[in-house]
Amino acid sequence: MPAEIPIITVDGPSGTGKGTVCSYLAERLDWRLLDSGAIYRVLGHAALQEGISLADGERLAGLAGRLDLDFRQSNGGIRAILAGVDVTDAIRTEAAGAAASQVAALPEVRAALLAIQRAFCRPPGLIADGRDMGTVVFPAARLKLYLTASPEERARRRYNQLKQKGIGVNLPDLSTDIRQRDARDEGRAISPSRPAPDAIVIDTTNLDAGEVCNRVVSLVQSTFHKLPLKN
Ligand code: DC
Repeated sequence: MPAEIPIITVDGPSGTGKGTVCSYLAERLDWRLLDSGAIYRVLGHAALQEGISLADGERLAGLAGRLDLDFRQSNGGIRAILAGVDVTDAIRTEAAGAAASQVAALPEVRAALLAIQRAFCRPPGLIADGRDMGTVVFPAARLKLYLTASPEERARRRYNQLKQKGIGVNLPDLSTDIRQRDARDEGRAISPSRPAPDAIVIDTTNLDAGEVCNRVVSLVQSTFHKLPLKN
């Protein structure tokens, strides 16, 4: 029997520190990283560009099936390349995020993206970042984490991130967007964002990034014994 490829799933809404924890773990374990939200964002972005309705499941699933998407490691992190064009920054806009959340609610789209996501699982191991990594995409993962934080704290983190990038936004608008997106992601009929029954839930509201990473590393060490961690 082929050896099991170890998987750690990290689910939860945006602004909970998932991205930071996942990059940190992928670096220390030297495992592959799947940012499934980036795939939904690329699809939302491509649909807007091609003028495809964000409610047309059939056409969007077709688009998902022919996405010419590549993730490349660069000095500044992972870049998303769509049909040869670097879309890393374009998919991080609020518009692309909202489009991602809309297309993500369609069963045809989720089915079409399943195989693309599972193909990321290769040796030596995978860190999978998303909403349904532990419930649907990798239900057999050995370690499942679900990060939460209060909506106010998540809006504040996002506000600071955008401010650092020189993007002007107002906090009340951002809070409203976050609440709307949460309601859609948690309330949808298919693969709603929720912890798997065997997930460990970590509330990061009052923790800084270092504290969350330390907590997660302890869980990794107690789950996968003798796993080498880089410094
Ligand atoms: O994590 P993110 O903000 O980049 O995700 C963008 C959107 O994609 C988010 O609104 C929810 C959706 N998504 C999803 O439905 N399932 C995933 N596994 C990842 C993201």
